[in-house]
Amino acid sequence: MAWVYAEPDNEVDRGVWRVSGYADGFAALTHRDLLIPGSVQTSETAGARREQVVAGDERGRVREQLDGSARLLLESACADSRAECTVELMALVCKPFGAQAAAIMLDMPAADVQRLEDDARVVWRDAAMARRPGASAEALRATAALANAFGADAVHKVQAFVALTYSLPALLGNVFAQLLEYPVSSRQWRDHPRQIVEELLRVAGPAKVVYRVVDDVARLDQTGIERGDVVAIDLESANHDSHVFPEPLQLNLARETTPHVAFGWTPHACLGAGAIRLALGSVVGAWMTTFGREMVRWTWRTEADDTLVTMRRMQRVDVTCV
Ligand code: HEM
Repeated sequence: MAWVYAEPDNEVDRGVWRVSGYADGFAALTHRDLLIPGSVQTSETAGARREQVVAGDERGRVREQLDGSARLLLESACADSRAECTVELMALVCKPFGAQAAAIMLDMPAADVQRLEDDARVVWRDAAMARRPGASAEALRATAALANAFGADAVHKVQAFVALTYSLPALLGNVFAQLLEYPVSSRQWRDHPRQIVEELLRVAGPAKVVYRVVDDVARLDQTGIERGDVVAIDLESANHDSHVFPEPLQLNLARETTPHVAFGWTPHACLGAGAIRLALGSVVGAWMTTFGREMVRWTWRTEADDTLVTMRRMQRVDVTCV
């Protein structure tokens, strides 16, 4: 594996090994000697919990509510933008949709979502700015507050809540920027909804980097590495690797064979992937009948949030009808 070692910016820590590209990234994600510190639960052992974000028999109801929420938000933003006003989609659509998705999927009153959002922001931002594994004292306090709010029998909802209120809006902003730059036709959406959702996750997924700690160096083909070293796996560069995904920024609906790693991979693959696919399908469906309509032309301007390290998201996505 070809890894790059970056010196630490202080004298206490060791540096961080960076793993880029699809082949090395995938190998690192699945390597048994690279661990998530403190993680006892893996997606392999947590199969039973998979259904808890949206249980199988709940999917129809949840999808209907998500469709309704996405349609209302996008229709009203689209109508406003036609009045020759510029609308900002992060604030008008992405953020409120994340809050509504949390209320729908976790079966919470909207007032509770609002009350807990500040703690979720602290947890998400801390993780998004982390240069190595672990959380700050402030983030641990906010996580504990969320865990208390959900109660002992629903602690698993903490991660779901943070992801739905912050990672989902980040994904949607990236997706809107992508769809404005590289539009999808309504025919493509009608014929290939599943492939479009997967390609959007690959190109616009918000998870940029995940961390591991080296448990044993014996099976790692890498000189200079030590037990306890931090490894940063660059998911974004894996998903944009042109050897694997030619013309990586374009949506290509024929890319069937190589899976993206927007949700990581086994043994730590994302337990919310199904829920997020559901939500993204609702939003893209609503996009296609509003901003995505072929007859309508838009100008747009995006501004990325450059302060983040492990996540990618837009600060603003401004759209105006021309
Ligand atoms: C756009 C939204 C989301 C994105 C981009 C995302 C991305 C990811 C990624 C990349 C990983 C792998 C982490 C690693 O390898 O270190 C992961 C793990 C995980 N995700 Fe998500 N996620 C999202 C939403 C959710 C939701 C809604 C839930 C709710 C249950 C969730 C629960 C989890 C859990 C529990 C893990 C850890 C699995 C393990 O360690 O075995 N995620 N997610």
